[in-house]
Parts: sequence; C-alpha cells; structure tokens
Amino acid sequence: MSKILLCVTGGVAAYKVVELASLMRKRGDDVRILMTESAIRFVSPLTFSAVGNFPVYTDAFDVSNGTILHTNLSSWGDILIVAPMTANTAAKIANGMADNLVTMTTLAFTGPKIGVPSMNVRMYENPITAENLSKLSKSGWHIVEPESGHLADGERGRGRYPDNEKILFEIDTVLGPNDFKGLNVLVSAGPTIEPIDPVRYITNRSSGKMGYEIARAAKIRGANVALISGPVNLPVPYGVDGEFVQTADEMKNAILRRLSWSNIVIMAAAVADYKPSKALSQKLKKHANEINLHMVKNVDILEEISKIRRDDQFIVGFAAETENLMENSRHKMKSKKLDMIVANDVSHSDIGFGSDYNEVTIFCKDDNVIRIGRNKKSYVAHNILDIIKSHRVKLA
Ligand SMILES: Cc1cc2nc3c(=O)[nH]c(=O)nc-3n(C[C@H](O)[C@H](O)[C@H](O)COP(=O)(O)O)c2cc1C
Repeated sequence: MSKILLCVTGGVAAYKVVELASLMRKRGDDVRILMTESAIRFVSPLTFSAVGNFPVYTDAFDVSNGTILHTNLSSWGDILIVAPMTANTAAKIANGMADNLVTMTTLAFTGPKIGVPSMNVRMYENPITAENLSKLSKSGWHIVEPESGHLADGERGRGRYPDNEKILFEIDTVLGPNDFKGLNVLVSAGPTIEPIDPVRYITNRSSGKMGYEIARAAKIRGANVALISGPVNLPVPYGVDGEFVQTADEMKNAILRRLSWSNIVIMAAAVADYKPSKALSQKLKKHANEINLHMVKNVDILEEISKIRRDDQFIVGFAAETENLMENSRHKMKSKKLDMIVANDVSHSDIGFGSDYNEVTIFCKDDNVIRIGRNKKSYVAHNILDIIKSHRVKLA
C-alpha cells in the first residue's frame, strides 16, 4: 500500500483520472487528491470523493485548524503524481512557480514525482512545452509519454492520456527496489486445455492469477519478463511479453524455445497431467449410453527442463496438492532437480485456484522451508521473488 498524492489539473482527460483513483482504492493505496481550479471545471471534487473515498483538497488557503495544506501534504506522501498534467501546470512547475495547491505542494515535495502530460498534439509538440517537460525530466521527474491517436477535439496525434494500468505500473516501478534489473524471467501461468473433439476439452480450475502476479512483480522490479500462458481471463501485465498456448505440448514448446534466454524460470502453470489419447477430428455424437475416455500421460515440462537446464539458471516449480503437501512437494523438487518449489494446498476454496489470495510453503534446495501466510497474490508474488533473490545469491 502506497501513500499517493494524486494531483489533477485542468485537461479533458481529468475524467479518466476518476478511474485511476478507483483502481488505486481497489489496490488498497492511501490517496489524497489535489485539484486545480481548472480541474474542478472538468470533474467535480465530489466525484473523486465518491469514487475513491479519499480526501479531496482544492484550496491552498483553506488553513483550518492551523494546518497548512501544502506543507502538510508534501511531507505525507510516498509519491506525487500529476495526471493529467496540463501544458500550463508543466510550465509552472518547470519554472518553480507555486500559485495554487498543486504547484505549491509539488514544489515542497521531495519524494519521487510522476507527470502524465496530456493535451492537444500542437500544444504537446510546441517547443516550449517540450522544453518544459525536458526540464522536468532533467530535474528527476518521471514523465509518462502520452500516446498517439484520436484526440478530444477530433484531431489525431501525440497527446492522448495513456492507459491507467501504465500509470499504476510506473508508480510501482518508481517505488520498487529495481532489484531484478537485467534479469530474464520466464513465467508460466494458467491451465492447459486438452481437446477431446473439436468442441470439447479437459482442463482444470487454474485462473492464472498467481503466475500473472509473479510476472507483474518481476517486471515492476526491473526484469525482462516473458509469460507463457494457458487460456485465462486476465490482461497481460503492462510491459510483459505474453505468449498464449492451449495444450501442454504447446506450452512445453514455448517454454523450451525461451529456456536458454532465461536466468530464472518460474513454472506456475497448472499443466494437465493426462490428456485424451486421441483428439477426435469430428464432434462426438450422443448415441451410446456410456463412453470411455482413454487418457494418456501428458508431457512433463519440468522434467524436460531438468534435462537441459544450466547450473546458472534458477528453476522454480509449483505444486498444487490436496494432501501430503510437504512430502509430495519435497519429492517433486528433488526428482525434477528444482532450486525451489512453491507448494499450495488447493483443497481450501478461499485460497489458491481462482482466489485473489494464497497461502504457500516454499521448499528450497538447501532445506530451508519458508511459510507465507494467507495474503493477496500480489504480496505473495513479491515474497516469492524476495526468496528467489536471496537463494540465487546463496546457491550461486
Ligand atoms: C475544453 C478545454 C479543454 C482543455 N484541455 C486541455 C488539455 O487536455 N490539456 C491541457 O494541457 N490543457 C487543456 N486546456 C487548457 C487548460 O484548461 C488551461 O491551460 C488551464 O489554465 C489549466 O489550468 P491548470 O493547469 O491550473 O489546471 C483545456 C481547456 C479547455 C477550455
């Protein structure tokens, strides 16, 4: 959870920041919203209060109870973000002006700052705006480049407010430790599906959430991340190179293609252990009272990896068990030559498959056992990366 000063200025994209505030609320961020007078003409402070349930401040001179807002707020936040950042506010900040609550707070804030310029293409490409934004970058601001495309006034060009996911990614990256920078991380996630006939298949309950959170966390921490995913209902995390597969065989091929590139491999996918011996080319007709489905063992991707892995690679497996969690996980780690195994008990419906929460036990090659209690999968993902980091160094 981060303490965020969200400053809204008077651009047409101000309404998109309402969604940003709502996403921050869902993530559990603690947010204070600051608005310029022009911003209030686009979106009412009431909308922000209602959607985000966060305090909204608009008047720097509202010094009630002896609290000076801009000094108080600027010493509170972990990070300050101006979204959208108008050409006008960029110019003021770049020149050290402090004539409203946003510019006063910005000038007094010493932590990391993000600007999201968004405006008409001609305003954006005006050399004076470019110079102001470049001045901000040079003084340590992180500027999220606007996108090209359709603009509010019917024109096309650069100046569009970017996706809010990109802004959240930027916030997390700026606040993150950047400790996976330069590492190539390969993650698998989701279920595989094994066809019975052209319209039917066998799969499992994996939602892919754990693997996606790991991919997102590694990206935020500076890694290059490739995500090989079975069919799931999740967006590929911002900045992650996603590749979609269906069957275990397709997943194996995709992983082996990227194996030599990887420094760390995290196999969070729930790969089907068995598959129908033959996928029928025509739809199975409803004639017989009973049918038998003949199943054969599927490819074992971890075993394939263990045959060709390098010693300098760190390979993490997942074990979803409903019984004998410890025994089965330890056995899997040894037999598949893994450096670490993340075991989760999928017999509880409030954690594991499909849930936003997980509770795992991690077994390491050096016999270290670490338990991560019930928490959000994003939290568990960062913990897993922390443990990988410390063991990679220890085992290297
Ligand atoms: C309809 C309308 C839309 C505007 N959209 C933008 C915009 O997207 N980006 C921008 O930089 N300025 C935009 N402006 C200009 C700003 O609102 C204006 O420069 C204002 O003084 C900004 O004040 P502030 O920076 O204190 O919020 C717009 C103005 C109007 C009237």
